[in-house]
Amino acid sequence: MATLCANENDAASACGQGDPRLSHRAGRGRELIDGIASWWTACHGYNHPHIRAAVERQLATMPHVMFGGLVHEQALTLARRLAGLLGAGNLDRVFFSESGWVAVEVALKMALQYWHNRGISGRDRIIAFKGGYHGDTSGAMAVSDPDSGLHGTLTGALPQQIIVDLPTDEARTAALETLLRQRSERIAAIIIEPLVQGAGGMRFHDPHVLQTLRTLADRYELLLIFDEIFTGFGRTGTMFAFEQTDVPDIVTLSKALTGGTLPLAATAARRKVFEAFWSDDPAKALMHGPTFMANALGCAAANASLDLFAREPRLAQVGKIEALLGTGLEPCRKLAGVKDVRVKGAIGVVELDRIENLNALRQRFIEQGVFVRPFGSIVYLTPPFTIAEEDLAKLTGAVARVLA
Ligand SMILES: Cc1ncc(COP(=O)(O)O)c(C=O)c1O
Repeated sequence: MATLCANENDAASACGQGDPRLSHRAGRGRELIDGIASWWTACHGYNHPHIRAAVERQLATMPHVMFGGLVHEQALTLARRLAGLLGAGNLDRVFFSESGWVAVEVALKMALQYWHNRGISGRDRIIAFKGGYHGDTSGAMAVSDPDSGLHGTLTGALPQQIIVDLPTDEARTAALETLLRQRSERIAAIIIEPLVQGAGGMRFHDPHVLQTLRTLADRYELLLIFDEIFTGFGRTGTMFAFEQTDVPDIVTLSKALTGGTLPLAATAARRKVFEAFWSDDPAKALMHGPTFMANALGCAAANASLDLFAREPRLAQVGKIEALLGTGLEPCRKLAGVKDVRVKGAIGVVELDRIENLNALRQRFIEQGVFVRPFGSIVYLTPPFTIAEEDLAKLTGAVARVLA
């Protein structure tokens, strides 16, 4: 049973196999159409029989084994498959961990140690962006926007990183370049959520912003990290957001990696990063070994999820969702208090001037038979890619009705 609670002690379960709807048990036996895909993970719907069978098989064989001094087939297969999928970017060296923010911590650590291993000292800062969110552990919080990342009260206690405006126009690009000209020898890497800043407000930016970052990273010899924990696996219309722009040196993946079934994450790097660690000197190793890294059940789920991406038309489904979100949410643009309506891939956003009472608004959606979870000043939809057209129409209709 998925515990996706709308409020109080309500409990949710999937309605059927591979079903993109949730059955919402609140003592009311109500069924809700899911507009969030369990924080963007359940790309194939819930309880998909192919993933479930793969996990059951793996459970009978071996649920977990330590990944130090030992490897297992599911992890090796998954690493090979991810390396193939990420091959266009030569991101073919894969490190497994157990959740998104650990993948981010690994990426940051890789970037910092990359310079150290090459004998270059002093590069101990990371550039990140206002509106960004990368997780809730210390290192990940330090590269997230303190306001939209909700950890403002801890700012003084965290590593001090450099949080700047996204280079969306000439003035901001010039400001970033000035900073790099003055301080690049102190900077190890730039980290960004490519195309969509998710938890920080579902803000979109153009691919040229990422091209600018690639150019600047090359010019000042910095590593470029794309955090694709939200955008990876089709959410923006391509398998990975970087396919719409330039290639990073390190990429982080999680969320839809296992089709939303089990916690697993990956940090993939280009060979040049890997080679800085490839040594007989133990001091050069990436010292990171979470107990449950490359958990065999998670890897089996991820392999099964990749099977579904290979044999079912997920990206075409995302294209269709994009069109339907566009037409379905467009009427919201005319409503009082609506600041913006935007759609990218299977992400639809209605931004309001403000939301006075988030809980009351969430409740209104439940009354409409949908599970939608507004935050900050936005109402957004990120449905499973397998959602039926009429269910998607009910979601967009509910958003328009409730906001009206
Ligand atoms: C872009 C991004 N990075 C990192 C994370 C943290 O991932 P997790 O919550 O799976 O640890 C999130 C979670 O929303 C995210 O959206």
